[in-house]
Amino acid sequence: MSHETESKFQNTTGHVWDEDLQEFNNPLPGWWLWTFYATMIFAVVYWVFYPSWPIGKTFLKGINTIEYVNDKGEKKSSSWNTRALLLQDMNEASKAQEKWVSKLAATPFDKINTDPELKAFVVSAGKVLFQDNCAACHQSGGQGKFNFAPNLTDDDWIFGGSYDAIQQTLVNGRHGIMPAKGGNAALTDADVTALANYVLSLSGEQANAASAEKGKELFAGAGVCFSCHGADGKGNQAIGSANLTDKIWLWANVPGAKSADEKVAAVKEVITTGLNRGVMPVWKGRLSDEQIKLLTAYVHELGGGK
Ligand code: HEC
Ligand code: HEC
Repeated sequence: MSHETESKFQNTTGHVWDEDLQEFNNPLPGWWLWTFYATMIFAVVYWVFYPSWPIGKTFLKGINTIEYVNDKGEKKSSSWNTRALLLQDMNEASKAQEKWVSKLAATPFDKINTDPELKAFVVSAGKVLFQDNCAACHQSGGQGKFNFAPNLTDDDWIFGGSYDAIQQTLVNGRHGIMPAKGGNAALTDADVTALANYVLSLSGEQANAASAEKGKELFAGAGVCFSCHGADGKGNQAIGSANLTDKIWLWANVPGAKSADEKVAAVKEVITTGLNRGVMPVWKGRLSDEQIKLLTAYVHELGGGK
């Protein structure tokens, strides 16, 4: 039996178990062996260049060095280590950022969109700055929040959507104020109802026609509404008096009203109490001129620009 099996397999170690179980003695495949040798050579080279073996309380640092600028802005050189590598990476990233920031500072607003790379920088860096400083009020997409802060993504601007107007808004802040009853305390409740009906009719909402007719007179007369909102009710961006002819409401809860009566009540509430609610903070001094320019371009882009 044993004799028979031996003749069948030449390359065995000669060991036989259970009479026919044998061990082959074939050479390792060449590709495997060479890969194995290569990993050994790689390991030795690696030990020479990079930190490797512990020696007492320290370690073999390797001959590879790395240059970086530390937290204090000093240029340093040290043996290779991941902390220095991170500092070096951050340095390069902020240098790249600086390059774009100074490019933006030197580019007039109306030329930004002609440079696709600069525009991409405005969108990405502007988004980060917006999240950090503006999203708390204007929400992360800039869509705003009723009775709190205006939507910046639509084409409707309270204070103006030109680059200049947006920049002014950021630099000096904004605070639109409307006196109670437009400043005429003598207006009766019926007068205010009439004015509310007229204001609703301006934006195409359902309104009591007779009342709105009376409101129209008051708007242009005793109500002094026209002095801020304009004779046509379209508002004045210089003082941020809302355009009353569009369907966009920031303070009067017309969108949330369930009936025509509730709409009248919502507008009446604003006219009766006046407005002194929303304050857009001043950013000069809190943000750099470059950051304000960046955000101006970003917001202009959000709103489709003017
Ligand atoms: C504390 C809340 C708050 C923060 C923070 C804030 N805003 Fe405002 N923002 C407002 C309010 C409220 C108004 C409307 C003021 C008004 O109507 O009187 C406004 C108005 C604006 C307008 C004018 C919109 C128009 O239609 O004319 C722009 C542009 C604007 N904000 C941009 C920004 C940017 C950019 C930032 C971040 C740097 C920012 N805001 C941070 C509350 C805020
Ligand atoms: C002194 C200027 C001034 C006068 C006078 C004035 N308004 Fe206003 N009105 C404003 C300003 C400014 C706002 C926007 C405030 C803001 O955005 O913070 C406003 C907002 C409104 C709104 C809210 C619009 C919205 O988006 O929700 C209504 C409604 C309104 N006014 C109606 C009237 C009527 C009616 C009169 C006349 C009785 C009147 N206003 C008189 C300055 C004025």
